[in-house]
Amino acid sequence: MVSAQKVNAVLHLELEKRLHAALLTSHPGSNINAVRVMPAPDTKFGDYQCNALMTLARVLGVAPRQLATEVVAQLNVSDLCEPVEIAGPGFLNFRLKPDAIAAVLAAAARGEHLFFVPAGATARTYVVDFSSPNVAKPMHVGHIRSTGIGDSLVKVLRRLGHRVITDNHLGDWGTQFGMLLLGWKTRLDPKALAADPIAELERLYKEVNALCDDSKPTFDPAIRDTAKNELVKLQAGDEENLGIWGEMQRLSQLQFDSVYGRLGVGFDYTLGESFYNPWLQGVVDELVARGLARSSKDAVAVFADTLWPDTANRPAPKDNAFLVQKDGEWVDQPALIKKSDGGFNYMTTDLATIAHRVREWQPDEIIYVVDDRQAAHFRQLFTIAAHWHPDWTARTRLTHVGFGKICGADKKPLKTRDGNTPKLAALLDEAEDRALQLVTEKRPELPEARRKEIARVVGLGALKYQDLLPHRTSDYVFNWDKMLALTGNTAPYVQYQFTRAAKVVRDGRGQDLGRISSPKVVLAEDQELALAKLLLNYGHTLNRVAEDYCPNFLCNYVYELASAYSRFYDNCPVLKAEEPTRASRLLLCELTAKVLQEGLALLGIETIDEM
Ligand code: ARG
Repeated sequence: MVSAQKVNAVLHLELEKRLHAALLTSHPGSNINAVRVMPAPDTKFGDYQCNALMTLARVLGVAPRQLATEVVAQLNVSDLCEPVEIAGPGFLNFRLKPDAIAAVLAAAARGEHLFFVPAGATARTYVVDFSSPNVAKPMHVGHIRSTGIGDSLVKVLRRLGHRVITDNHLGDWGTQFGMLLLGWKTRLDPKALAADPIAELERLYKEVNALCDDSKPTFDPAIRDTAKNELVKLQAGDEENLGIWGEMQRLSQLQFDSVYGRLGVGFDYTLGESFYNPWLQGVVDELVARGLARSSKDAVAVFADTLWPDTANRPAPKDNAFLVQKDGEWVDQPALIKKSDGGFNYMTTDLATIAHRVREWQPDEIIYVVDDRQAAHFRQLFTIAAHWHPDWTARTRLTHVGFGKICGADKKPLKTRDGNTPKLAALLDEAEDRALQLVTEKRPELPEARRKEIARVVGLGALKYQDLLPHRTSDYVFNWDKMLALTGNTAPYVQYQFTRAAKVVRDGRGQDLGRISSPKVVLAEDQELALAKLLLNYGHTLNRVAEDYCPNFLCNYVYELASAYSRFYDNCPVLKAEEPTRASRLLLCELTAKVLQEGLALLGIETIDEM
């Protein structure tokens, strides 16, 4: 009994199961793996559809419509659907019966499921590497992308029942610390440091960097050598330098913690690049010993010819991450793993990081949520890892989840008026300030503390939602007015529809609690049916987010659900309706509020009772 109800949490999977059975009866031995039943993109022809029979018919050597007819003859779904329709060359269209939908909703209302079946025995282990800002620098607008997309993927995967380990791979080691140490020792302004530590560190870095850069008129070779020497001392474990470095970490972490606190984001681990320092030489030695890397002009690097000494096995140039096209010719694009001055590279650290993660957590997948500008780095990294330890990459899938840029109205990367990259903390402030203005206009009667709380939830929600809404790989134009609008596909709109649904539930419950717990679900009006059918697709949406690493599917889903709720609310009275309609509609409101709230929460967005 319980298991039957569980299956019915997802009607299209139940239909799929029965379709498979029918196929195996009508055409024993056929390959059912690719035969899926999915929510229909256009519900004009039905709620769910299967478009796999045409391909299968080709394999089986039968006419597609004939296959469809024979399968449908064996298919028994009359308890769930109207007679299955065969359309065009062999599409199957399923139109759900309102009673079948009502049964799923009633089970959801009893708390048996929320329209999906958690992973259970098929749960996977993921490591998600996201946010990963650099120490001694301010977090900027771009960090909202990795932080928001990563956090949302983590939340969805966990909700689906997977085990997720989050690791903030801070940039806390490397060349910049030579310059920072020199700056700290010779140019530090303690007052400025006390007032705004990150701004002071940034100033020191910029100043010293200008002196160390041989392409600038300010270049001073003596200073560059001293900075290098400071770095060598740090890497050799010099106590004074390690102490200053530690202080820079501490000051940066304070900044990170404050931003993460406001964004509601947390990490299981913040190992950072420095954690891997002890293993870097070992990584290089191993790769050289195995012939996968070789020295070239004092540096050590991985080349196409070290990975594939036999040119016959080498991937075609366009698929080869170790070649680039220059002036029409393919030239080497080696991956550096040790610099000529003895320092190690970003790549070396990332290789050591894979080793650590695989050994420590045995994940099924490691997901890197990092700017698309690093796509070439990850292609090389994954290829080297596969040659270095094929056993690891056979067990652990490595996935770069990239994303595009945030642009200004001019379609160029977003800048402040003075031409700088906007700081993340300032953007969070501005989002809350702008939302406070809007709330104050609409609700002047509310006490200030309340208005501020609403503004925080709405402002930060708007900013995050705007960032999650476009497909992650596309660039998007940052726009305060659009993201904060109460109409259209925005967080405030979805949050507002949630407040309406939640209010109806509160009011209705107060009046008559008893009947809501096990009401009869009646789906008579179009708007009721449309809302109910959308609720059914919640779990399917979460699965799509997880499969494609795309939170935008969830944004679009909560927007559609909010819009369907609004149409329902305008057309179907709830509290004034007669029983059993009243209790049934109240239940629709309750489930809608629940799914909207949870869906937004999985996007990292809060809800509030009034707006
Ligand atoms: N700190 C790097 C940056 O700001 C991002 C690190 C991403 N993670 C990784 N394992 N490489 O560009």
